Amino acid sequence: MTDPTTFRIDTGADSATCGAGQRILDALLRQGMWIPNSCNQGTCGTCKVRVIDGMVDAPPAPDTVLSEAERQQGYVLSCQSTPLTDVAVETQADESGAHHHVLRDVAGTVSSITTVADDTVSVTVSLDEPFEFIAGQYVELSIPGTDQTRPYSMANPPSEADTLEFHIRRQPDGLATDRWIFDTLAVGASLSMTGPWGDFCHRQDEPGVGLILLAGGTGLAPLKAIARAALEIDPDREVHLYHGVRTEAELYDVDFWRSLSAEHPNVRYTPCLSRQEWCGRTCYVGDAMMDDFDSCRDHAAYLCGPPAMVEAGVRALKRRRMAPRRIKREKYTPAATLVAP
Ligand code: FES
Repeated sequence: MTDPTTFRIDTGADSATCGAGQRILDALLRQGMWIPNSCNQGTCGTCKVRVIDGMVDAPPAPDTVLSEAERQQGYVLSCQSTPLTDVAVETQADESGAHHHVLRDVAGTVSSITTVADDTVSVTVSLDEPFEFIAGQYVELSIPGTDQTRPYSMANPPSEADTLEFHIRRQPDGLATDRWIFDTLAVGASLSMTGPWGDFCHRQDEPGVGLILLAGGTGLAPLKAIARAALEIDPDREVHLYHGVRTEAELYDVDFWRSLSAEHPNVRYTPCLSRQEWCGRTCYVGDAMMDDFDSCRDHAAYLCGPPAMVEAGVRALKRRRMAPRRIKREKYTPAATLVAP
């Protein structure tokens, strides 16, 4: 007899079970059926699937995320939609080139909270058990006493399987930051989270290709993980890290990047301030990169930060002839670290 609280999701190649009220994306990823995804909040469209049989509860999506034509064809956002019956769906091909890990719940204990810059802390968490992810991905932290979560990217490489490092900037009135992390969170606190999420992943199928990393604010976190993961594989890898913030008081991890440059002959670290003259570069990260490179044709890039910074950085890389397929990006928004492809 069929369990009325469980539905079947058939993707053609495989099938998964999905609890009543469980989102399609969550069900697929928890059962090892990876499909492209990014924000998990209904804002990027990466996770769209086409429902070819059965019924789903799919909340309205903005036209910018799901077009009228796509809706007519049966597309829904799998991160927002729940099955009402058994369903058959057509998924997007995963072109990330990555070996993805199963989504799961993880628990840990805060082992340090360090103020690293104005309104910015680095939080490390000791996990109860090892956790597999790809450098660049994120977890969703559960906010105690609420049903809310917030996404934070890991700043450490996956080789440190028992620890996670997060860079967190205070958001005025932010439920997660102002009212929890910057208020009551203390060393020894228990944390629960779900992950890994997202397609912003270190690609290991481009060995030897020089990396250009453009970070804005705490968008530095996943790029630190990617740089460290790349250098673990090849200590001589060319890595150019540009970190943009507004003022010197917002700059952090300077000693870490200087040490990394000293240890690795091909690592270049360029901090950039956009609103303060100082002894270093005063400009946006994309402009600094364009000053340094006549051509980026032979490099690959990862960008993470506020949307305007990421979009300007992508334009700069294309002007320096980088192929679009070699540009990976993730956009943070102030309120909830939303991400987009
Ligand atoms: S809209 Fe579903 S992952 Fe972004």
